[in-house]
Amino acid sequence: MSETANSRAAELSHLRSRDFASGDPIPLPLTMASIFHTPGVETGVDQYGRYDNPTWRAVEHVLGHLEDAQCVSFPSGMAAISAVFFALLKSGDRVLLPADGYHATRAMAERFLKPLGITTDTRPTQTFLDGGFEGYQLVFVETPSNPRLDICDISAVAKAAHEQGAILVVDNTTMTPFGQRPLDFGADIVVSADTKAVNGHSDVLFGHVAGRNADIIAGVTDWRAMVGGIPGPFEAWLVHRGLETLEVRFDRMCSSAETIAQRLKEHHAVRGLRFPGLDGDPSHNLARAQMERFGFLISFVLDSENKAEDFINNCHLIEAATSFGGVHTSAERRAKRGDAVSPGFVRLSVGCEPVEELWQAIEASLDNLGA
Ligand SMILES: Cc1ncc(COP(=O)(O)O)c(C=O)c1O
Repeated sequence: MSETANSRAAELSHLRSRDFASGDPIPLPLTMASIFHTPGVETGVDQYGRYDNPTWRAVEHVLGHLEDAQCVSFPSGMAAISAVFFALLKSGDRVLLPADGYHATRAMAERFLKPLGITTDTRPTQTFLDGGFEGYQLVFVETPSNPRLDICDISAVAKAAHEQGAILVVDNTTMTPFGQRPLDFGADIVVSADTKAVNGHSDVLFGHVAGRNADIIAGVTDWRAMVGGIPGPFEAWLVHRGLETLEVRFDRMCSSAETIAQRLKEHHAVRGLRFPGLDGDPSHNLARAQMERFGFLISFVLDSENKAEDFINNCHLIEAATSFGGVHTSAERRAKRGDAVSPGFVRLSVGCEPVEELWQAIEASLDNLGA
């Protein structure tokens, strides 16, 4: 990682101590409270749990430090994405979404934005710039896209979107702020499903919105308080704890993914291998330009649905599970979830296991598939 990313990582665990009074607990206390002591004037203090909570603030402080932005936390990635849409869009607006990103973002727009008179179009990530952005108020990209790992040029999309008066939202779930910082490339808003690598232990759903424009952040914060889609303090506490090890986990996961992708390339059973870190991958050059690391997701195709299921289910170091970014390596045959991919398409999320043991297990499971 770059020097600046390392210095952000080094500071992370000591952010709280800057405001310590003698005797304060070093780890973050969990504040489970819906009401607070508020005699007399109520300004500048916590009053009611739907508006704010000290444990949210702590997690938002850390995320804001990593994003170099203001941050608002949400109970899931979809809650963060929908807060952006519903707080910022109005009837008559047009939105452009990735055709190949997380399916629920498109489904939510189709089911809930369209009836309000907000039009949505879609476009493949790899050719996202083609056609320009005239007539759009909000342009949304997911890069690398889940599950095919295509990439678009964030700076170029931001510039072209801004020329047409649109704002750019980037779903940074697959990279985390340690892998990519879209706001540095001109994006207006980052959304993230912290359910994945940011929390990293597969025990919580969480999300955040980050931005450097105070009006946008105020709008999203107001939406959260009015609608009541707020994170639980305990979930925020767990995510804060996850953040303390994010850099270590992310580093191990990305390094292991680089090793495993190189070896999968040589395996006879594997076709259609995609990993932005591989020389020759269609995403490689852009990945080098805008990502700190190449991520922990790898995708590839096996000969049939049965072979993909057998590979996943018979590998003792792979959990057969949806989602990604956890400490446990996991994989899923994405056609099962309705993604437009072939039946043998596998998305592999590389976890924190020691890489040689992990590779041996993966190789054995591939070898066992037979000819
Ligand atoms: C890229 C991406 N964005 C958003 C989400 C939604 O996150 P959540 O499940 O926390 O609502 C997901 C979930 O898989 C995702 O993969």
